[in-house]
Amino acid sequence: MQTTLYTQEIQKENKDAIRQAAEVIRSGGIVVFPTETVYGLGANALDEYAVKKIFIAKGRPTDNPLIVHISDRAMLDSLVSRVTPSAEKLLNAFWPGPLTIVFPKKEHVPLITTGGLETIAVRMPDHQIAQDLIRLATCPIAAPSANISGKPSGTTFEHVYEDFVGKVDVIIDGGETLHGLESTVVLCTEDEVIILRPGSITKDMLQQVLGDISVRNTQSRKELDQSPGTRYRHYAPQAKIEIIQNMTPEKIASRMTEMTQDGILVGVLATDDIVSQVSCPHTYSLGPKDDLPLIAQHLYDGLRYFDKTPVQVIFVPSFSGSLFAEVIMDRLSKAAGSTESH
Ligand code: TXA
Ligand code: MG
Repeated sequence: MQTTLYTQEIQKENKDAIRQAAEVIRSGGIVVFPTETVYGLGANALDEYAVKKIFIAKGRPTDNPLIVHISDRAMLDSLVSRVTPSAEKLLNAFWPGPLTIVFPKKEHVPLITTGGLETIAVRMPDHQIAQDLIRLATCPIAAPSANISGKPSGTTFEHVYEDFVGKVDVIIDGGETLHGLESTVVLCTEDEVIILRPGSITKDMLQQVLGDISVRNTQSRKELDQSPGTRYRHYAPQAKIEIIQNMTPEKIASRMTEMTQDGILVGVLATDDIVSQVSCPHTYSLGPKDDLPLIAQHLYDGLRYFDKTPVQVIFVPSFSGSLFAEVIMDRLSKAAGSTESH
Protein backbone atom coordinates (compact mmCIF):
# COMPACT_ATOMS: atom_id res chain seq x y z
CA MET A 1 0.00 0.00 0.00
CA GLN A 2 1.19 3.51 -0.83
CA THR A 3 1.32 5.64 2.34
CA THR A 4 0.93 9.41 1.98
CA LEU A 5 3.18 11.17 4.49
CA TYR A 6 2.22 14.59 5.78
CA THR A 7 5.41 15.70 7.50
CA GLN A 8 5.43 18.99 9.38
CA GLU A 9 7.11 20.72 6.39
CA ILE A 10 4.49 19.41 3.97
CA GLN A 11 1.72 20.58 6.32
CA LYS A 12 3.23 24.09 6.24
CA GLU A 13 3.15 24.13 2.44
CA ASN A 14 -0.09 22.26 1.93
CA LYS A 15 -2.78 23.92 4.03
CA ASP A 16 -5.25 21.25 2.88
CA ALA A 17 -3.25 18.31 4.26
CA ILE A 18 -5.57 17.59 7.21
CA ARG A 19 -8.64 18.07 4.99
CA GLN A 20 -7.22 15.50 2.57
CA ALA A 21 -6.53 13.07 5.43
CA ALA A 22 -10.12 13.60 6.64
CA GLU A 23 -11.34 12.74 3.15
CA VAL A 24 -9.39 9.47 3.36
CA ILE A 25 -11.19 8.66 6.64
CA ARG A 26 -14.56 9.52 5.05
CA SER A 27 -13.89 7.17 2.17
CA GLY A 28 -13.01 4.20 4.41
CA GLY A 29 -9.22 4.54 4.70
CA ILE A 30 -6.95 4.42 7.77
CA VAL A 31 -4.87 7.34 9.01
CA VAL A 32 -2.17 7.61 11.69
CA PHE A 33 -2.52 10.93 13.52
CA PRO A 34 -1.07 12.62 16.63
CA THR A 35 -2.99 13.24 19.85
CA GLU A 36 -1.80 14.77 23.13
CA THR A 37 -1.27 11.28 24.63
CA VAL A 38 0.17 9.00 21.92
CA TYR A 39 -0.39 8.64 18.16
CA GLY A 40 -3.63 6.95 17.10
CA LEU A 41 -4.43 4.70 14.12
CA GLY A 42 -7.83 5.94 13.02
CA ALA A 43 -10.80 4.99 10.86
CA ASN A 44 -14.47 5.98 10.65
CA ALA A 45 -15.87 4.37 13.83
CA LEU A 46 -19.19 3.65 12.13
CA ASP A 47 -17.72 1.89 9.08
CA GLU A 48 -17.18 -1.80 9.91
CA TYR A 49 -15.02 -2.43 6.88
CA ALA A 50 -12.71 0.50 7.69
CA VAL A 51 -12.44 -0.49 11.37
CA LYS A 52 -11.48 -4.03 10.36
CA LYS A 53 -8.46 -2.57 8.54
CA ILE A 54 -7.19 -1.15 11.87
CA PHE A 55 -7.15 -4.60 13.47
CA ILE A 56 -5.31 -6.02 10.47
CA ALA A 57 -2.69 -3.24 10.29
CA LYS A 58 -1.94 -3.51 14.04
CA GLY A 59 -2.20 -7.28 14.31
CA ARG A 60 -4.65 -6.64 17.14
CA PRO A 61 -6.96 -9.31 18.60
CA THR A 62 -10.54 -8.46 17.60
CA ASP A 63 -11.92 -8.80 21.14
CA ASN A 64 -9.84 -5.76 22.16
CA PRO A 65 -12.16 -2.74 21.79
CA LEU A 66 -11.14 0.63 20.34
CA ILE A 67 -11.45 4.13 21.76
CA VAL A 68 -13.72 6.38 19.71
CA HIS A 69 -12.51 9.97 19.32
CA ILE A 70 -14.94 12.87 19.01
CA SER A 71 -14.68 16.61 18.45
CA ASP A 72 -17.91 17.84 20.06
CA ARG A 73 -20.71 16.94 22.43
CA ALA A 74 -23.20 16.22 19.64
CA MET A 75 -20.98 13.35 18.48
CA LEU A 76 -21.05 11.87 21.98
CA ASP A 77 -24.83 11.96 22.06
CA SER A 78 -24.97 10.26 18.67
CA LEU A 79 -22.95 7.31 20.02
CA VAL A 80 -24.10 6.65 23.58
CA SER A 81 -27.47 5.83 25.13
CA ARG A 82 -26.83 7.20 28.63
CA VAL A 83 -24.52 9.73 30.28
CA THR A 84 -24.49 9.23 34.06
CA PRO A 85 -24.17 12.29 36.34
CA SER A 86 -20.64 11.17 37.24
CA ALA A 87 -19.67 10.95 33.55
CA GLU A 88 -21.20 14.38 32.98
CA LYS A 89 -19.02 15.87 35.72
CA LEU A 90 -15.88 14.22 34.40
CA LEU A 91 -16.33 15.18 30.77
CA ASN A 92 -17.11 18.77 31.75
CA ALA A 93 -13.89 18.91 33.76
CA PHE A 94 -11.46 16.94 31.60
CA TRP A 95 -12.55 17.15 27.95
CA PRO A 96 -10.84 17.85 25.70
CA GLY A 97 -8.09 15.85 27.39
CA PRO A 98 -6.54 12.48 28.25
CA LEU A 99 -9.63 10.88 29.82
CA THR A 100 -11.58 8.07 28.14
CA ILE A 101 -15.06 7.31 29.46
CA VAL A 102 -16.95 4.04 28.89
CA PHE A 103 -20.70 4.46 28.13
CA PRO A 104 -23.52 2.13 27.04
CA LYS A 105 -23.48 2.26 23.23
CA LYS A 106 -26.29 3.04 20.81
CA GLU A 107 -27.36 0.14 18.62
CA HIS A 108 -25.96 1.49 15.34
CA VAL A 109 -22.35 1.50 16.64
CA PRO A 110 -20.78 -1.61 15.04
CA LEU A 111 -19.69 -4.36 17.42
CA ILE A 112 -16.30 -4.60 15.71
CA THR A 113 -15.51 -1.10 17.03
CA THR A 114 -16.37 -2.11 20.60
CA GLY A 115 -14.75 -5.56 20.51
CA GLY A 116 -18.18 -7.19 20.77
CA LEU A 117 -19.17 -5.19 23.88
CA GLU A 118 -22.43 -3.28 24.40
CA THR A 119 -20.36 -0.40 25.76
CA ILE A 120 -18.23 2.16 23.93
CA ALA A 121 -15.13 4.02 25.13
CA VAL A 122 -15.10 7.69 24.06
CA ARG A 123 -12.52 10.46 24.29
CA MET A 124 -12.24 14.06 23.06
CA PRO A 125 -8.53 14.63 22.35
CA ASP A 126 -6.84 17.92 23.24
CA HIS A 127 -4.78 18.26 20.07
CA GLN A 128 -5.36 20.61 17.16
CA ILE A 129 -4.59 18.10 14.39
CA ALA A 130 -6.74 15.38 15.99
CA GLN A 131 -9.65 17.76 16.49
CA ASP A 132 -9.44 19.17 12.95
CA LEU A 133 -9.25 15.66 11.51
CA ILE A 134 -12.41 14.53 13.33
CA ARG A 135 -14.31 17.73 12.60
CA LEU A 136 -13.42 17.68 8.89
CA ALA A 137 -14.17 13.96 8.58
CA THR A 138 -17.58 14.71 10.19
CA CYS A 139 -17.58 11.27 11.81
CA PRO A 140 -16.28 9.83 15.07
CA ILE A 141 -12.83 8.24 14.63
CA ALA A 142 -12.05 4.87 16.22
CA ALA A 143 -8.35 4.76 17.05
CA PRO A 144 -6.20 2.50 19.15
CA SER A 145 -2.67 3.60 19.94
CA ALA A 146 -0.53 3.54 16.81
CA ASN A 147 1.86 0.66 17.35
CA ILE A 148 2.12 -2.91 16.17
CA SER A 149 0.16 -4.90 18.78
CA GLY A 150 2.32 -5.62 21.84
CA LYS A 151 4.92 -2.90 21.15
CA PRO A 152 5.16 0.40 23.05
CA SER A 153 2.70 3.01 21.72
CA GLY A 154 4.10 5.40 19.11
CA THR A 155 4.96 8.81 20.52
CA THR A 156 7.01 10.26 17.64
CA PHE A 157 6.67 10.40 13.85
CA GLU A 158 9.71 8.08 13.57
CA HIS A 159 7.96 5.40 15.70
CA VAL A 160 4.79 5.37 13.66
CA TYR A 161 6.66 5.58 10.37
CA GLU A 162 8.64 2.51 11.37
CA ASP A 163 5.52 0.53 12.35
CA PHE A 164 3.08 1.61 9.65
CA VAL A 165 4.67 2.87 6.45
CA GLY A 166 3.19 0.77 3.63
CA LYS A 167 0.37 -0.49 5.89
CA VAL A 168 -1.85 2.60 6.19
CA ASP A 169 -3.18 5.24 3.78
CA VAL A 170 -1.81 8.32 5.55
CA ILE A 171 0.59 9.24 8.36
CA ILE A 172 0.35 12.76 9.83
CA ASP A 173 3.45 14.05 11.63
CA GLY A 174 2.71 15.98 14.83
CA GLY A 175 6.18 15.77 16.37
CA GLU A 176 6.64 14.21 19.78
CA THR A 177 3.36 13.73 21.71
CA LEU A 178 2.96 15.73 24.93
CA HIS A 179 2.01 13.16 27.58
CA GLY A 180 3.64 10.06 26.09
CA LEU A 181 1.29 7.73 27.99
CA GLU A 182 -2.20 6.62 26.94
CA SER A 183 -5.34 8.20 28.43
CA THR A 184 -6.91 7.22 31.74
CA VAL A 185 -9.90 4.89 31.05
CA VAL A 186 -12.88 5.00 33.45
CA LEU A 187 -16.21 3.23 33.70
CA CYS A 188 -18.92 5.45 35.19
CA THR A 189 -21.72 3.44 36.81
CA GLU A 190 -24.74 5.02 38.49
CA ASP A 191 -23.01 5.16 41.86
CA GLU A 192 -19.26 4.90 41.39
CA VAL A 193 -16.37 5.43 38.98
CA ILE A 194 -13.95 2.59 38.29
CA ILE A 195 -10.49 3.21 36.80
CA LEU A 196 -9.95 0.52 34.14
CA ARG A 197 -6.59 1.88 33.00
CA PRO A 198 -4.57 4.44 35.00
CA GLY A 199 -3.21 7.47 33.17
CA SER A 200 -2.05 11.03 33.66
CA ILE A 201 -5.48 12.03 35.01
CA THR A 202 -4.98 10.37 38.38
CA LYS A 203 -7.42 9.02 40.95
CA ASP A 204 -7.19 12.11 43.17
CA MET A 205 -7.82 14.44 40.21
CA LEU A 206 -10.96 12.43 39.41
CA GLN A 207 -12.04 12.37 43.06
CA GLN A 208 -11.69 16.11 43.36
CA VAL A 209 -14.18 16.65 40.55
CA LEU A 210 -16.54 13.85 41.65
CA GLY A 211 -17.02 15.14 45.22
CA ASP A 212 -18.93 12.48 47.16
CA ILE A 213 -19.19 9.98 44.27
CA SER A 214 -16.57 7.33 44.97
CA VAL A 215 -13.76 6.47 42.57
CA ARG A 216 -11.62 3.35 42.81
CA ASN A 217 -9.22 1.14 40.90
CA THR A 218 -10.38 -2.19 39.49
CA GLN A 219 -10.43 -4.79 42.22
CA SER A 220 -10.84 -8.13 40.52
CA ARG A 221 -9.88 -10.04 37.42
CA LYS A 222 -13.55 -10.00 36.44
CA GLU A 223 -13.66 -6.22 36.58
CA LEU A 224 -10.44 -5.94 34.68
CA ASP A 225 -11.97 -8.13 31.99
CA GLN A 226 -14.37 -5.26 31.35
CA SER A 227 -11.37 -3.56 29.75
CA PRO A 228 -10.15 -6.40 27.56
CA GLY A 229 -7.03 -4.51 26.47
CA THR A 230 -5.50 -5.03 29.88
CA ARG A 231 -5.39 -8.82 29.25
CA TYR A 232 -2.73 -8.55 26.60
CA ARG A 233 0.98 -8.02 26.86
CA HIS A 234 1.81 -4.41 26.14
CA TYR A 235 4.52 -1.84 25.72
CA ALA A 236 7.13 -4.55 25.34
CA PRO A 237 10.53 -3.99 23.75
CA GLN A 238 12.43 -7.00 22.37
CA ALA A 239 14.82 -7.18 25.34
CA LYS A 240 13.73 -8.38 28.79
CA ILE A 241 13.09 -5.68 31.37
CA GLU A 242 14.47 -5.89 34.89
CA ILE A 243 13.02 -3.37 37.32
CA ILE A 244 15.56 -2.37 39.99
CA GLN A 245 14.24 -1.03 43.30
CA ASN A 246 16.14 1.97 44.74
CA MET A 247 18.45 2.04 41.74
CA THR A 248 21.99 3.35 42.32
CA PRO A 249 25.04 3.29 40.03
CA GLU A 250 26.63 0.76 42.45
CA LYS A 251 23.63 -1.58 42.24
CA ILE A 252 23.74 -1.43 38.46
CA ALA A 253 27.48 -2.12 38.40
CA SER A 254 27.18 -5.25 40.52
CA ARG A 255 24.13 -6.62 38.69
CA MET A 256 25.85 -5.85 35.38
CA THR A 257 28.92 -7.83 36.40
CA GLU A 258 26.73 -10.87 37.14
CA MET A 259 24.95 -10.58 33.81
CA THR A 260 28.15 -10.02 31.83
CA GLN A 261 29.63 -13.19 33.38
CA ASP A 262 26.64 -15.05 31.94
CA GLY A 263 27.32 -13.46 28.56
CA ILE A 264 24.23 -11.25 28.69
CA LEU A 265 24.38 -7.78 27.14
CA VAL A 266 22.81 -5.12 29.36
CA GLY A 267 21.33 -1.65 28.75
CA VAL A 268 20.24 1.03 31.22
CA LEU A 269 17.04 3.10 30.85
CA ALA A 270 17.06 5.57 33.73
CA THR A 271 17.11 9.20 34.81
CA ASP A 272 19.98 11.65 34.13
CA ASP A 273 21.60 11.28 37.57
CA ILE A 274 22.01 7.51 37.12
CA VAL A 275 22.86 7.43 33.42
CA SER A 276 25.63 10.00 33.87
CA GLN A 277 27.32 7.73 36.42
CA VAL A 278 27.14 4.25 34.87
CA SER A 279 29.65 2.86 32.46
CA CYS A 280 27.57 1.00 29.94
CA PRO A 281 27.63 1.36 26.14
CA HIS A 282 23.85 1.27 25.79
CA THR A 283 21.98 3.81 27.87
CA TYR A 284 18.93 6.04 27.42
CA SER A 285 18.24 8.97 29.69
CA LEU A 286 14.61 9.81 30.47
CA GLY A 287 15.35 13.24 31.99
CA PRO A 288 15.86 14.72 35.47
CA LYS A 289 14.67 12.37 38.23
CA ASP A 290 12.13 14.80 39.67
CA ASP A 291 10.43 15.56 36.35
CA LEU A 292 7.92 12.72 36.11
CA PRO A 293 5.90 14.25 33.23
CA LEU A 294 9.08 14.43 31.14
CA ILE A 295 10.03 10.87 32.13
CA ALA A 296 6.56 9.70 31.03
CA GLN A 297 6.85 11.61 27.76
CA HIS A 298 10.14 9.85 26.86
CA LEU A 299 9.36 6.39 28.27
CA TYR A 300 8.23 4.65 25.08
CA ASP A 301 10.98 6.27 23.01
CA GLY A 302 13.40 4.86 25.57
CA LEU A 303 11.91 1.37 25.36
CA ARG A 304 11.94 1.47 21.56
CA TYR A 305 15.54 2.76 21.48
CA PHE A 306 16.82 -0.57 22.80
CA ASP A 307 15.20 -2.46 19.90
CA LYS A 308 17.91 -0.87 17.74
CA THR A 309 20.69 -2.24 19.96
CA PRO A 310 21.85 -5.81 20.65
CA VAL A 311 20.90 -5.38 24.34
CA GLN A 312 19.20 -8.45 25.89
CA VAL A 313 18.23 -7.08 29.31
CA ILE A 314 17.26 -3.49 30.14
CA PHE A 315 17.64 -2.25 33.72
CA VAL A 316 14.96 0.29 34.65
CA PRO A 317 14.41 2.02 37.99
CA SER A 318 11.30 1.67 40.10
CA PHE A 319 9.43 5.00 40.45
CA SER A 320 7.42 5.74 43.59
CA GLY A 321 6.10 8.50 45.79
CA SER A 322 3.08 9.73 43.82
CA LEU A 323 0.05 8.52 41.89
CA PHE A 324 1.73 9.68 38.70
CA ALA A 325 4.79 7.52 39.52
CA GLU A 326 2.38 4.57 39.89
CA VAL A 327 1.09 5.18 36.36
CA ILE A 328 4.64 4.99 35.00
CA MET A 329 5.11 1.75 36.98
CA ASP A 330 1.86 0.36 35.55
CA ARG A 331 3.31 0.67 32.04
CA LEU A 332 6.78 -0.55 33.03
CA SER A 333 5.48 -3.63 34.80
CA LYS A 334 3.35 -4.47 31.75
CA ALA A 335 6.39 -3.97 29.53
CA ALA A 336 8.24 -6.33 31.87
CA GLY A 337 5.65 -8.95 30.95
CA SER A 338 3.67 -9.37 34.12
CA THR A 339 0.45 -9.71 32.13
CA GLU A 340 -0.45 -12.58 29.79
CA SER A 341 1.15 -12.37 26.38
CA HIS A 342 -0.53 -13.26 23.09
O1 TXA B 1 -4.53 7.88 24.82
C1 TXA B 1 -5.19 6.96 24.33
O2 TXA B 1 -6.13 6.43 24.92
C2 TXA B 1 -4.79 6.48 22.92
C3 TXA B 1 -5.04 7.63 21.94
C4 TXA B 1 -4.80 7.24 20.52
O3 TXA B 1 -6.33 8.13 22.13
N1 TXA B 1 -5.51 5.32 22.56
C5 TXA B 1 -5.30 4.10 23.14
O4 TXA B 1 -6.06 3.07 22.60
O5 TXA B 1 -4.49 3.90 24.02
P1 TXA B 1 -5.80 1.53 22.86
O6 TXA B 1 -6.68 0.84 21.92
O7 TXA B 1 -4.37 1.23 22.76
O8 TXA B 1 -6.34 1.26 24.30
C6 TXA B 1 -7.73 1.27 24.53
C7 TXA B 1 -8.02 0.78 25.92
C8 TXA B 1 -7.86 -0.71 26.03
O9 TXA B 1 -7.33 -1.04 27.30
C9 TXA B 1 -9.30 -1.21 25.89
O10 TXA B 1 -9.54 -2.44 26.51
C10 TXA B 1 -10.07 -0.09 26.57
O11 TXA B 1 -9.39 1.09 26.20
N2 TXA B 1 -11.46 -0.04 26.08
C11 TXA B 1 -11.89 0.31 24.86
N3 TXA B 1 -13.23 0.15 24.76
C12 TXA B 1 -13.65 -0.29 25.95
C13 TXA B 1 -14.93 -0.64 26.48
N4 TXA B 1 -16.04 -0.56 25.76
N5 TXA B 1 -14.99 -1.06 27.76
C14 TXA B 1 -13.88 -1.11 28.52
N6 TXA B 1 -12.63 -0.81 28.08
C15 TXA B 1 -12.52 -0.41 26.80
MG1 MG C 1 -2.54 0.39 22.87
